[in-house]
Amino acid sequence: MTNTNRKILVTAALPYANGPLHLGHMVEFIQCDIWVRFQKLLGHNCYFVCGDDAHGTPIMLRAKKLGITPEQLSTETYQNHVKDLQEFNIAFDNFHTTHSAENQTLANEIYERLLKRGDITKRIIRQAYDPIQNMFLPDRYVKGECPKCGTKDQYGDSCEACGATYTPIALKNPISVISGATPIEKESEHYFFCLDHYEKFLKDWTHQGHLQSEVSKKLDEWFKMGLEQWDISRDGPYFGFKIPNTSDKYFYVWLDAPIGYMASFKNLCNKHASLSFEEYWNKDSQTELYHFIGKDIVYFHALFWPALLTGSDFRTPNSIFVHGFLTVNGQKMSKSRGTFINARTYLDHLNPEYLRYYFANKLNNSIEDIDFQTDDFIARINSDLVGKLVNIASRCAGFITKQFNGFLANSLLEKELYQEFVAAGETIKIHYEEREYNRAVREIMRLADLANRYIDDKKPWVLAKSPDQQDPLWNACSVGLNLFRVLMIYLKPILPVLAKEVEDFLNTKLAWEERKKPLLQHAIQPFKPLLQRIEPKEVLAMSEASKENLTETVEPSIKSSPLTEDPLRETISIEDFAKIDLRIAKIINAEPVADAHKLLKLTLDIGGDTRQVFAGIKEAYEPETLIGKLTVMVANLAPRKMRFGVSEGMVLAAGPGGQHLWLLEPHDGAQPGMRVK
Ligand code: 2FM
Ligand code: ZN
Repeated sequence: MTNTNRKILVTAALPYANGPLHLGHMVEFIQCDIWVRFQKLLGHNCYFVCGDDAHGTPIMLRAKKLGITPEQLSTETYQNHVKDLQEFNIAFDNFHTTHSAENQTLANEIYERLLKRGDITKRIIRQAYDPIQNMFLPDRYVKGECPKCGTKDQYGDSCEACGATYTPIALKNPISVISGATPIEKESEHYFFCLDHYEKFLKDWTHQGHLQSEVSKKLDEWFKMGLEQWDISRDGPYFGFKIPNTSDKYFYVWLDAPIGYMASFKNLCNKHASLSFEEYWNKDSQTELYHFIGKDIVYFHALFWPALLTGSDFRTPNSIFVHGFLTVNGQKMSKSRGTFINARTYLDHLNPEYLRYYFANKLNNSIEDIDFQTDDFIARINSDLVGKLVNIASRCAGFITKQFNGFLANSLLEKELYQEFVAAGETIKIHYEEREYNRAVREIMRLADLANRYIDDKKPWVLAKSPDQQDPLWNACSVGLNLFRVLMIYLKPILPVLAKEVEDFLNTKLAWEERKKPLLQHAIQPFKPLLQRIEPKEVLAMSEASKENLTETVEPSIKSSPLTEDPLRETISIEDFAKIDLRIAKIINAEPVADAHKLLKLTLDIGGDTRQVFAGIKEAYEPETLIGKLTVMVANLAPRKMRFGVSEGMVLAAGPGGQHLWLLEPHDGAQPGMRVK
């Protein structure tokens, strides 16, 4: 690997297209984006590609439930993902999707090459089958009693109580999570990739410096258990690519997901004639390839993926960079605690640069989990970014503008201090390259302390009062701003928006090598405040809104406890139904709830009685258009205390959510208070 003009391709794991991004996703996107921006800042040719992981059973079922096609669902999610990622300033060169022509062509090509080499084998397996939905059931779609300890309500792959692992057909009293039916056993022919053919290759590859040492150790455990053939096919109905020369077999989502990395790059090459797909993916490629992933998907990336690539005559990655999970305030993210924070909810309340900085301040190259500690987050931003960093500029800039016509001094005093700042770049560079961002940040903040100490010593605010101290004032403020500039060059990969504002303010581009030359006799722009302090109430509001998301969720995730959360999949008795007091309600007032981007406060007349209801329909309706309309409400729902007041019922609406929600309206003749049966 040469150090100049490197050609680098970087990927972040492709998020599933069946749900919104959350802060757990953002750890990886931010980690990856900082690394890419750093490589670009050094002048390397670095490409960053990603895309949505569109296929699989959960997406198919979710779309079905919403009454839309999987394509429609994946398109809608794609747009939301792209919007969130752009607002976090994740600078992809391309964000594509696995449901694309490029991916299908590549998946087929890889499969056919493996087939030719004798790496694909077929055999008949028995699986749980839903006789109502007419489909085979993946392990997580069967629930029942653990065959070992008898604990109820366990998934078809493992028991949460005793840790036993088994197949769904071993469960006692199994039921299909999708329909509630008792699954039957059915045979089907499946296609397997012979991972065992690659045992020797993988044992070598996983110990050749492509992986962090803790990851290699984990793989050794898997090698000891033996490499099993990998089932790469699924029967229809399935949202995915049909396997060539079969009538109703599809590639398992995890087969074409990593191929999506190649497809996204191929799609980028199609847009830029100067980029060559072959140069980056051929077996003899001299370019570098890195995949950033979470520790839950190591098996796919460190075993299946290098084996698939080698078997189909493509190059393998230089490294797989694995990171840990995100915890919030020391615990797993939790919806009820308001710590399951969607990317969008964060963006609604806080500046993305803060999170980028906070994660950078925590990230290193190990696979340990990282904790988003909300009090520490507020303290870090306020003390490091506002109190230390931006403060350097705000303490110096005003004097330059007012007293020196916006010009920096002609020569730089404090050469030694400046040189220390420049030299630190060599260490900071290594920390970035090695993904030890926490060390880079610590070093940058050490320098920021030095700069502040220098300004404290010089006291420009005192010098400014003496007409005979104009030169020392000019020098001190020019040194301060030059030190600030070097710090901002170092922070540019982490804080791209702030860096851009500083480029405008200092009238110069922040480039890595440029730091060696101070800005002298140089005009700057008047200083404008660069960053605001975080108020604790903003973080609190984000957390409340995350709880709000929970109460407004129209579509529960299929993975999370489907039987309890999803009324569509459970039957209720007529007696259960009779308990629900549905009433015609007239909307006599509707108004937005400040600080709640999804809620309208409705006042409802149900025939002599009025009720206040908070409904998650703000994105779908202008409040005034609702006044006077009739709708249907659940009148005997227990009152629920929310941040904004008590909600005394629920109105009924249909649709997937957001702008796509429609309140139920009765035909003419219905009167407020009438019972709905
Ligand atoms: O675990 C996940 O979220 C997967 N969608 C990651 C896929 S990464 C790559 F292989 F596509
Ligand atoms: Zn058990």
